[in-house]
Amino acid sequence: LNYQTARFMISAPTLAQCPPDDGAEVAFAGRSNAGKSSAINTLTRQKALARTSRTPGRTQLINHFSLGDDTSRRLVDLPGYGFAKVPEEVKREWQRHLAEYLRGRRSLKGVVLVMDVRHPLTEFDQTLLGWADDQDMPVHILLTKADKLKSGAAKQALQQVRQRLQEWEDLVTIQLFSSLKREGVDEASARLDAWLAT
Ligand code: GTP
Ligand code: MG
Repeated sequence: LNYQTARFMISAPTLAQCPPDDGAEVAFAGRSNAGKSSAINTLTRQKALARTSRTPGRTQLINHFSLGDDTSRRLVDLPGYGFAKVPEEVKREWQRHLAEYLRGRRSLKGVVLVMDVRHPLTEFDQTLLGWADDQDMPVHILLTKADKLKSGAAKQALQQVRQRLQEWEDLVTIQLFSSLKREGVDEASARLDAWLAT
């Protein structure tokens, strides 16, 4: 699939306002500031398709991007979780939305779980993996910002995460990624193809 043709469709505040639940979509989830929006821009080779920011909490709506005119193939940029400045109640509310989205969205073929390679598997990352497991929803983990570590340390981090997720190896695949260096793009695109091209 040609991800360079991706274009903005809609920002939905809730699941009910998302585009019709048909075709196939892949959602990018992960902690606030992990690099989800950057990963979407890197994969689509567009500088500012998804809004990025150094300030955590940039993405607050469920943003849908279609591949060209074909609105039946979509990438979805989700708000990050764990953003400290948001009141506890708002956080819980968003977690409820996210769980509902994972459970209820039939066109969702897979989740790209974006983690900073230096801080993998936060508590909520693990919660999300548990939800995905409940739904038999495949997850592809991008250990991003790999450019922040020396190559040996990055590989070691990858091995450690693989080991910790061994029990989920049927459902979970993992790779190193860097938006800054455009590393891991082919591997990630191949995974998206497998989910979206069917
Ligand atoms: P929220 O929308 O707030 O949940 O954040 P996000 O996960 O979408 O993160 P975003 O893509 O906005 O990136 C957060 C910050 O990390 C920005 O300053 C990016 O430039 C930086 N960043 C993202 N990916 C990489 C990467 O691969 N390497 C480096 N060095 N920085 C990155
Ligand atoms: Mg974002």
